[in-house]
Amino acid sequence: MDHRVTLTQHLLREVEAHAPGGGPVASILAQVATACKEIRAELAEVGLGSLAGMQGGVNVQGESVHKLDWFANEVFTKHFRGSGLLCTLISEEMEDIYHLDEDCPRAQHVLCYDPMDGSSNLDVDGAVGTIFSVRRKSTGKTHGKPEEVFEPGTEQVAAGYVLYGPQCMLVYAVGGNVHGFTLDTAVGEFFLSHPNIRMPEHGKEFSANMARLDAWDPAFREFVRNHSHGGSAARSYSLRYIGALVADFHRALLRGGVFFYPGDANNPHGKLRLLYEAAPLAYLAEAAGGAASSGRERILSIVPDGLHVRTPLIIGSRYEVSAIESLLAGERQGVANASLA
Ligand code: AHG
Ligand code: MN
Ligand code: MN
Repeated sequence: MDHRVTLTQHLLREVEAHAPGGGPVASILAQVATACKEIRAELAEVGLGSLAGMQGGVNVQGESVHKLDWFANEVFTKHFRGSGLLCTLISEEMEDIYHLDEDCPRAQHVLCYDPMDGSSNLDVDGAVGTIFSVRRKSTGKTHGKPEEVFEPGTEQVAAGYVLYGPQCMLVYAVGGNVHGFTLDTAVGEFFLSHPNIRMPEHGKEFSANMARLDAWDPAFREFVRNHSHGGSAARSYSLRYIGALVADFHRALLRGGVFFYPGDANNPHGKLRLLYEAAPLAYLAEAAGGAASSGRERILSIVPDGLHVRTPLIIGSRYEVSAIESLLAGERQGVANASLA
Protein backbone atom coordinates (compact mmCIF):
# COMPACT_ATOMS: atom_id res chain seq x y z
CA MET A 1 0.00 0.00 0.00
CA ASP A 2 1.36 3.42 -0.95
CA HIS A 3 2.58 5.52 1.91
CA ARG A 4 -0.41 7.37 3.32
CA VAL A 5 0.39 11.02 3.86
CA THR A 6 -0.93 12.33 7.14
CA LEU A 7 -2.17 15.90 7.54
CA THR A 8 0.64 16.61 9.97
CA GLN A 9 3.36 15.51 7.53
CA HIS A 10 1.70 17.45 4.73
CA LEU A 11 1.34 20.62 6.77
CA LEU A 12 5.02 20.68 7.71
CA ARG A 13 6.06 20.27 4.05
CA GLU A 14 3.49 22.71 2.67
CA VAL A 15 4.13 25.43 5.23
CA GLU A 16 7.89 25.15 4.72
CA ALA A 17 7.42 25.47 0.97
CA HIS A 18 4.80 28.23 0.86
CA ALA A 19 4.90 30.08 4.15
CA PRO A 20 8.54 30.05 5.13
CA GLY A 21 9.01 31.14 8.70
CA GLY A 22 5.37 30.31 9.19
CA GLY A 23 6.23 27.40 11.47
CA PRO A 24 3.39 28.09 13.94
CA VAL A 25 0.92 27.99 11.02
CA ALA A 26 1.42 24.23 10.66
CA SER A 27 0.79 23.79 14.40
CA ILE A 28 -2.25 26.08 14.26
CA LEU A 29 -3.81 24.06 11.42
CA ALA A 30 -3.00 20.80 13.18
CA GLN A 31 -4.73 22.14 16.29
CA VAL A 32 -7.74 23.18 14.18
CA ALA A 33 -7.89 19.61 12.83
CA THR A 34 -7.86 18.24 16.38
CA ALA A 35 -10.67 20.58 17.41
CA CYS A 36 -12.70 19.51 14.38
CA LYS A 37 -12.18 15.83 15.16
CA GLU A 38 -13.73 16.51 18.58
CA ILE A 39 -16.65 18.34 16.95
CA ARG A 40 -17.16 15.48 14.52
CA ALA A 41 -17.23 12.90 17.31
CA GLU A 42 -20.00 14.88 19.02
CA LEU A 43 -21.92 15.38 15.77
CA ALA A 44 -21.83 11.67 14.96
CA GLU A 45 -24.07 10.86 17.92
CA VAL A 46 -25.80 14.14 18.71
CA GLY A 47 -29.17 12.41 18.62
CA LEU A 48 -28.12 10.26 21.57
CA GLY A 49 -26.58 13.04 23.62
CA SER A 50 -27.59 16.27 25.28
CA LEU A 51 -26.46 18.67 22.52
CA ALA A 52 -29.43 18.41 20.18
CA GLY A 53 -31.68 21.43 19.82
CA MET A 54 -31.37 25.08 20.68
CA GLN A 55 -29.09 26.78 23.15
CA GLY A 56 -31.63 29.49 23.71
CA GLY A 57 -30.78 33.11 23.09
CA VAL A 58 -29.73 34.94 19.97
CA ASN A 59 -26.16 35.53 18.80
CA VAL A 60 -24.60 38.69 17.44
CA GLN A 61 -25.94 37.69 14.02
CA GLY A 62 -29.49 37.92 15.36
CA GLU A 63 -29.84 34.18 14.84
CA SER A 64 -31.01 31.63 17.39
CA VAL A 65 -28.10 29.55 18.60
CA HIS A 66 -27.98 25.76 18.41
CA LYS A 67 -26.33 24.00 21.35
CA LEU A 68 -23.81 22.64 18.84
CA ASP A 69 -22.95 26.13 17.58
CA TRP A 70 -21.84 27.07 21.06
CA PHE A 71 -20.28 23.68 21.81
CA ALA A 72 -18.18 23.91 18.63
CA ASN A 73 -17.16 27.46 19.49
CA GLU A 74 -16.04 26.36 22.93
CA VAL A 75 -14.03 23.45 21.54
CA PHE A 76 -11.90 26.02 19.71
CA THR A 77 -11.37 28.30 22.72
CA LYS A 78 -10.46 25.21 24.80
CA HIS A 79 -7.94 23.90 22.23
CA PHE A 80 -6.19 27.23 21.77
CA ARG A 81 -6.21 28.82 25.23
CA GLY A 82 -2.73 28.24 26.68
CA SER A 83 -1.39 26.77 23.43
CA GLY A 84 0.84 29.76 22.70
CA LEU A 85 -0.31 29.47 19.06
CA LEU A 86 -2.85 32.27 18.75
CA CYS A 87 -3.20 35.77 20.09
CA THR A 88 -6.85 36.25 19.17
CA LEU A 89 -9.90 34.23 18.14
CA ILE A 90 -12.69 35.78 16.06
CA SER A 91 -15.83 33.66 15.81
CA GLU A 92 -19.26 33.95 14.28
CA GLU A 93 -20.55 33.03 17.74
CA MET A 94 -18.67 35.70 19.72
CA GLU A 95 -19.62 39.37 19.42
CA ASP A 96 -16.16 40.71 20.18
CA ILE A 97 -12.63 39.43 19.64
CA TYR A 98 -11.50 36.77 22.11
CA HIS A 99 -8.04 37.87 23.17
CA LEU A 100 -5.77 35.14 24.57
CA ASP A 101 -3.72 37.38 26.85
CA GLU A 102 -1.47 34.65 28.22
CA ASP A 103 -0.66 33.39 24.72
CA CYS A 104 -0.27 36.70 23.01
CA PRO A 105 3.34 37.55 23.71
CA ARG A 106 4.52 34.39 21.93
CA ALA A 107 1.72 34.01 19.37
CA GLN A 108 1.90 35.75 16.01
CA HIS A 109 -1.47 34.83 14.52
CA VAL A 110 -5.24 35.33 14.67
CA LEU A 111 -7.87 32.70 13.81
CA CYS A 112 -11.22 33.69 12.28
CA TYR A 113 -13.71 30.83 12.28
CA ASP A 114 -17.30 29.78 11.77
CA PRO A 115 -17.43 26.88 14.21
CA MET A 116 -20.60 25.39 12.81
CA ASP A 117 -21.65 26.39 9.31
CA GLY A 118 -25.06 25.26 8.10
CA SER A 119 -26.55 25.00 11.60
CA SER A 120 -30.08 24.78 10.21
CA ASN A 121 -29.10 21.30 8.97
CA LEU A 122 -28.17 20.05 12.44
CA ASP A 123 -31.57 18.79 13.53
CA VAL A 124 -32.17 16.95 10.25
CA ASP A 125 -28.79 15.20 10.03
CA GLY A 126 -27.75 17.35 7.07
CA ALA A 127 -24.22 18.36 6.05
CA VAL A 128 -22.55 20.99 8.24
CA GLY A 129 -18.98 22.24 8.50
CA THR A 130 -16.36 24.43 10.17
CA ILE A 131 -14.66 27.23 8.22
CA PHE A 132 -11.34 28.76 9.32
CA SER A 133 -8.86 31.45 8.30
CA VAL A 134 -5.43 32.32 9.72
CA ARG A 135 -4.15 35.89 9.66
CA ARG A 136 -1.07 37.53 11.09
CA LYS A 137 -1.63 39.58 14.23
CA SER A 138 -0.92 43.25 13.89
CA THR A 139 1.94 44.63 15.95
CA GLY A 140 0.83 48.23 15.58
CA LYS A 141 -1.74 50.26 17.46
CA THR A 142 -4.57 48.03 16.27
CA HIS A 143 -3.10 45.01 18.06
CA GLY A 144 -5.68 43.20 20.15
CA LYS A 145 -8.52 45.25 18.70
CA PRO A 146 -11.06 44.29 15.98
CA GLU A 147 -9.25 46.66 13.61
CA GLU A 148 -6.30 44.29 13.49
CA VAL A 149 -8.17 42.11 11.00
CA PHE A 150 -9.54 44.99 8.95
CA GLU A 151 -7.28 43.92 6.09
CA PRO A 152 -8.18 42.49 2.67
CA GLY A 153 -8.51 38.72 2.34
CA THR A 154 -5.25 38.65 0.38
CA GLU A 155 -3.59 39.05 3.79
CA GLN A 156 -4.81 35.62 4.91
CA VAL A 157 -1.94 33.25 5.61
CA ALA A 158 -4.00 30.05 5.37
CA ALA A 159 -7.64 29.01 5.09
CA GLY A 160 -9.72 25.88 5.01
CA TYR A 161 -12.76 24.02 6.17
CA VAL A 162 -13.89 20.71 7.56
CA LEU A 163 -17.02 19.19 6.02
CA TYR A 164 -18.91 16.80 8.30
CA GLY A 165 -20.68 14.75 5.64
CA PRO A 166 -20.89 10.99 5.14
CA GLN A 167 -17.10 11.29 5.16
CA CYS A 168 -15.28 13.89 7.24
CA MET A 169 -13.04 15.91 4.93
CA LEU A 170 -10.56 18.66 5.70
CA VAL A 171 -9.57 21.01 2.86
CA TYR A 172 -6.86 23.67 3.23
CA ALA A 173 -4.39 25.92 1.43
CA VAL A 174 -1.43 27.81 2.84
CA GLY A 175 -0.29 30.00 -0.02
CA GLY A 176 0.07 27.14 -2.49
CA ASN A 177 -2.42 24.69 -3.89
CA VAL A 178 -5.56 23.33 -2.27
CA HIS A 179 -5.42 19.87 -0.73
CA GLY A 180 -8.11 17.57 0.66
CA PHE A 181 -7.85 15.02 3.47
CA THR A 182 -10.27 12.32 4.59
CA LEU A 183 -10.58 11.26 8.22
CA ASP A 184 -9.79 7.59 8.86
CA THR A 185 -12.04 7.21 11.90
CA ALA A 186 -10.43 3.92 12.91
CA VAL A 187 -7.03 5.60 13.16
CA GLY A 188 -8.32 9.06 14.12
CA GLU A 189 -6.09 10.72 11.52
CA PHE A 190 -6.70 12.81 8.40
CA PHE A 191 -4.97 11.27 5.35
CA LEU A 192 -4.31 12.97 2.01
CA SER A 193 -7.07 11.95 -0.42
CA HIS A 194 -7.38 14.93 -2.81
CA PRO A 195 -3.93 16.42 -3.58
CA ASN A 196 -3.71 19.64 -5.61
CA ILE A 197 -7.42 20.22 -6.13
CA ARG A 198 -8.18 22.28 -9.26
CA MET A 199 -11.64 23.78 -9.72
CA PRO A 200 -12.99 22.94 -13.23
CA GLU A 201 -13.19 25.92 -15.62
CA HIS A 202 -16.98 25.49 -15.62
CA GLY A 203 -19.55 23.13 -14.14
CA LYS A 204 -23.12 22.13 -14.78
CA GLU A 205 -24.75 23.07 -11.46
CA PHE A 206 -25.73 26.33 -9.85
CA SER A 207 -26.51 26.68 -6.16
CA ALA A 208 -28.75 29.35 -4.65
CA ASN A 209 -31.83 29.77 -2.48
CA MET A 210 -34.26 30.05 -5.39
CA ALA A 211 -37.10 31.10 -3.07
CA ARG A 212 -35.39 34.54 -3.12
CA LEU A 213 -35.30 34.73 -6.96
CA ASP A 214 -37.65 37.73 -7.19
CA ALA A 215 -35.70 39.65 -4.54
CA TRP A 216 -32.43 39.48 -6.50
CA ASP A 217 -30.93 41.82 -9.07
CA PRO A 218 -32.41 40.86 -12.49
CA ALA A 219 -28.95 39.77 -13.63
CA PHE A 220 -29.21 36.70 -11.36
CA ARG A 221 -32.61 35.82 -12.81
CA GLU A 222 -31.13 36.13 -16.31
CA PHE A 223 -28.21 33.85 -15.39
CA VAL A 224 -30.66 31.26 -14.01
CA ARG A 225 -32.88 31.51 -17.09
CA ASN A 226 -29.94 31.23 -19.49
CA HIS A 227 -28.56 28.15 -17.72
CA SER A 228 -31.83 26.34 -17.04
CA HIS A 229 -33.39 23.77 -19.33
CA GLY A 230 -34.10 25.38 -22.72
CA GLY A 231 -31.95 28.39 -21.87
CA SER A 232 -29.49 30.12 -24.19
CA ALA A 233 -26.33 28.72 -22.58
CA ALA A 234 -24.42 25.92 -24.29
CA ARG A 235 -25.56 23.43 -21.66
CA SER A 236 -28.41 23.41 -19.16
CA TYR A 237 -27.53 23.16 -15.50
CA SER A 238 -29.01 21.40 -12.49
CA LEU A 239 -29.88 23.15 -9.23
CA ARG A 240 -28.14 21.89 -6.08
CA TYR A 241 -28.66 23.69 -2.76
CA ILE A 242 -27.71 22.08 0.55
CA GLY A 243 -28.24 25.08 2.83
CA ALA A 244 -24.69 24.83 4.17
CA LEU A 245 -22.23 27.11 2.39
CA VAL A 246 -19.32 24.81 3.12
CA ALA A 247 -21.06 21.82 1.46
CA ASP A 248 -22.27 23.80 -1.56
CA PHE A 249 -18.78 25.24 -1.97
CA HIS A 250 -17.11 21.83 -1.64
CA ARG A 251 -19.22 20.46 -4.50
CA ALA A 252 -18.30 23.41 -6.74
CA LEU A 253 -14.64 23.04 -5.78
CA LEU A 254 -14.58 19.40 -6.88
CA ARG A 255 -16.87 19.40 -9.91
CA GLY A 256 -17.28 23.03 -10.91
CA GLY A 257 -20.31 25.28 -11.00
CA VAL A 258 -21.30 28.29 -8.94
CA PHE A 259 -22.86 29.19 -5.59
CA PHE A 260 -24.36 32.61 -5.09
CA TYR A 261 -26.00 34.39 -2.20
CA PRO A 262 -26.82 37.90 -3.48
CA GLY A 263 -27.89 40.91 -1.52
CA ASP A 264 -31.38 42.32 -1.99
CA ALA A 265 -33.31 45.51 -1.28
CA ASN A 266 -33.73 44.60 2.40
CA ASN A 267 -30.24 43.14 2.90
CA PRO A 268 -27.96 44.75 0.31
CA HIS A 269 -24.92 42.94 1.79
CA GLY A 270 -26.63 39.56 1.75
CA LYS A 271 -26.32 37.04 4.58
CA LEU A 272 -22.81 35.61 4.48
CA ARG A 273 -20.03 36.98 6.65
CA LEU A 274 -16.75 38.13 5.15
CA LEU A 275 -14.12 37.25 7.76
CA TYR A 276 -15.04 33.63 8.50
CA GLU A 277 -17.18 32.52 5.53
CA ALA A 278 -16.59 34.43 2.27
CA ALA A 279 -12.89 35.36 2.60
CA PRO A 280 -11.54 31.90 3.59
CA LEU A 281 -13.54 30.18 0.83
CA ALA A 282 -12.51 32.87 -1.68
CA TYR A 283 -8.87 32.17 -0.74
CA LEU A 284 -9.41 28.48 -1.54
CA ALA A 285 -11.44 29.17 -4.70
CA GLU A 286 -8.70 31.36 -6.19
CA ALA A 287 -5.91 28.97 -5.09
CA ALA A 288 -7.78 26.20 -6.96
CA GLY A 289 -8.19 28.32 -10.12
CA GLY A 290 -11.75 29.49 -9.44
CA ALA A 291 -13.10 32.92 -8.51
CA ALA A 292 -15.06 34.70 -5.80
CA SER A 293 -16.82 38.02 -6.22
CA SER A 294 -19.30 40.24 -4.41
CA GLY A 295 -20.71 41.10 -7.84
CA ARG A 296 -18.84 44.39 -7.76
CA GLU A 297 -15.36 43.36 -6.65
CA ARG A 298 -13.07 40.45 -5.83
CA ILE A 299 -13.95 39.10 -2.38
CA LEU A 300 -10.24 39.02 -1.46
CA SER A 301 -9.98 42.79 -2.06
CA ILE A 302 -12.71 43.76 0.37
CA VAL A 303 -11.46 45.44 3.56
CA PRO A 304 -13.88 44.74 6.45
CA ASP A 305 -14.95 47.56 8.77
CA GLY A 306 -16.42 45.22 11.34
CA LEU A 307 -15.90 41.66 12.67
CA HIS A 308 -19.25 40.44 11.41
CA VAL A 309 -19.68 42.39 8.18
CA ARG A 310 -21.56 40.60 5.43
CA THR A 311 -21.02 40.50 1.69
CA PRO A 312 -22.93 39.24 -1.31
CA LEU A 313 -21.08 36.13 -2.55
CA ILE A 314 -20.69 34.59 -6.00
CA ILE A 315 -18.13 31.79 -5.82
CA GLY A 316 -17.10 28.89 -8.04
CA SER A 317 -15.74 28.22 -11.51
CA ARG A 318 -14.35 31.12 -13.50
CA TYR A 319 -16.87 30.76 -16.34
CA GLU A 320 -19.97 31.01 -14.15
CA VAL A 321 -18.63 33.73 -11.83
CA SER A 322 -17.60 35.94 -14.74
CA ALA A 323 -20.89 35.24 -16.57
CA ILE A 324 -22.79 36.63 -13.57
CA GLU A 325 -20.38 39.55 -13.16
CA SER A 326 -20.86 40.46 -16.85
CA LEU A 327 -24.63 40.40 -16.52
CA LEU A 328 -24.41 42.60 -13.42
CA ALA A 329 -22.03 45.01 -15.18
CA GLY A 330 -24.42 45.13 -18.14
CA GLU A 331 -27.19 45.96 -15.71
CA ARG A 332 -25.17 48.78 -14.22
CA GLN A 333 -24.19 50.05 -17.68
CA GLY A 334 -27.84 49.96 -18.73
CA VAL A 335 -28.81 51.99 -15.69
CA ALA A 336 -25.95 54.44 -16.37
CA ASN A 337 -26.99 54.82 -20.04
CA ALA A 338 -30.61 55.31 -19.03
CA SER A 339 -29.60 58.05 -16.64
CA LEU A 340 -27.69 59.78 -19.47
CA ALA A 341 -30.62 59.54 -21.89
P1 AHG B 1 -24.42 29.47 9.67
O1 AHG B 1 -25.09 28.17 9.95
O2 AHG B 1 -22.98 29.50 10.05
O3 AHG B 1 -25.21 30.63 10.22
O4 AHG B 1 -24.39 29.67 8.09
C1 AHG B 1 -25.55 29.46 7.36
C2 AHG B 1 -25.41 30.10 6.02
C3 AHG B 1 -24.67 29.25 5.01
O5 AHG B 1 -24.07 28.11 5.55
C4 AHG B 1 -25.75 28.86 4.01
O6 AHG B 1 -25.25 28.86 2.70
C5 AHG B 1 -26.79 29.93 4.20
O7 AHG B 1 -26.71 30.34 5.55
C6 AHG B 1 -28.18 29.42 3.91
O8 AHG B 1 -29.03 30.56 4.04
P2 AHG B 1 -30.59 30.40 3.67
O9 AHG B 1 -31.18 29.48 4.67
O10 AHG B 1 -31.11 31.82 3.75
O11 AHG B 1 -30.65 29.86 2.25
MN1 MN C 1 -21.85 29.90 8.34
MN1 MN D 1 -22.13 29.21 11.95
